[in-house]
Amino acid sequence: MASVPFNRPTLCGKETEYMLDAIAREHISGDGYYSQRCHAFLQARLGVPKALLCTSCTHALEMAALLLDIRPGDEIVLPSFTFVSAANAFVLRGGRPVFADVRPDTLNLDERQVESLITGRTRAIVAVHYAGVGCEMDAIGATAARHGIPVIEDNAHGLFGKYKGRFLGTFGCLATLSFHETKNVTCGEGGALLINEPSYIERAEILREKGTDRSRFFRGQVDKYQWIDVGSSYLPSDLLAAFLLAQLESIEWIERRRQAAWQFYFEQLQPWAADHDVRLPVIPSHCEQSFHMFYLLLPGIDDRQELIRHLELRGLYGIFHYLPLHLSPMGRQFGGRDGDCPVTEDVSGRILRLPFYNGISEAEQSRVVAALKDFDRWRRQRAKVQAAARGRAGLFRPGAGLFRPAESDS
Ligand SMILES: Cc1ncc(COP(=O)(O)O)c(C=O)c1O
Repeated sequence: MASVPFNRPTLCGKETEYMLDAIAREHISGDGYYSQRCHAFLQARLGVPKALLCTSCTHALEMAALLLDIRPGDEIVLPSFTFVSAANAFVLRGGRPVFADVRPDTLNLDERQVESLITGRTRAIVAVHYAGVGCEMDAIGATAARHGIPVIEDNAHGLFGKYKGRFLGTFGCLATLSFHETKNVTCGEGGALLINEPSYIERAEILREKGTDRSRFFRGQVDKYQWIDVGSSYLPSDLLAAFLLAQLESIEWIERRRQAAWQFYFEQLQPWAADHDVRLPVIPSHCEQSFHMFYLLLPGIDDRQELIRHLELRGLYGIFHYLPLHLSPMGRQFGGRDGDCPVTEDVSGRILRLPFYNGISEAEQSRVVAALKDFDRWRRQRAKVQAAARGRAGLFRPGAGLFRPAESDS
């Protein structure tokens, strides 16, 4: 039987047509026709003053750190339970990550902790909308405003998700998106920087174009372009933008598919989860999620490893997620210690993400659901086989009595 991968990139229909058209237009480097259309699409849909495609969400975060002019010793508050790029982007500029824990329900930055982590050196707060469910932006925004600290939203998971009726990515002065293969909308590798504070727009264009005013040159605003700031090459090829536009234009289809897949898991697994002490995702009523992922919080870390193996044996691929950043080798160099973020430390060992992608079929999901429900029986059988093997090892271990189990087995 075919396997069910964790993620399978799914074409929406017009990707190759648009890519061939980009070639026919004889502009496949950055900021061509399709990049401009993606920018316009994101700006119109989200109502943001400026959207700039980037080569990844990681690079969009790096641009955010450059725009905020992060300097050595500056502190950035961010959740420990997140992707490494949210820390690295600032560390590259000499910044120091200050790790906050996450809320036990949504696994989002715990807004109640932010205030106590702010010092005179805090230069940014990074709110990561985990699984495309909005952070508590009212509280985070209020704390940030009290201290005059900018908020950056890492919205890698939450494109078109909403918090209290407003799109994620429109709260912070800057926000980032990911179009990596695993995301709802993809071009393989890609991202975007959303700029809500217009004063950042001009410099963002320069940083993204190798520190030059090439964007102004292409618009005919200057007669030559030159080096005027630091920068790098953060813009993707128009071929990727062409692929991406095809996906963006199919957003209604994508959202319908993902919502249906999410509801299917949720409904099928609810009774089983309640019986087995497994927690399903929590979506607060004021959040409209982006249906980015479906995860389970299992009772213990051993359960997770065994369950991953159990699924794998059936050709089904569930995976874990973030390891606590504060306990990573780099995080420890910044002072991270065991026990700093207890919720992160706990959930990171228990989370299991199920196969989830735009094209997943009900038959594939049914196999995952059936395998989960079959887990207990498999575990009991395996324990029996292991006990029998231990018994045999006891029989043949030198010095062990014929009917006595080996001492170390007890
Ligand atoms: C929350 C978060 N931010 C940023 C990233 C990095 O995205 P990219 O691969 O586009 O750089 C990821 C990756 O999955 C992520 O989960």
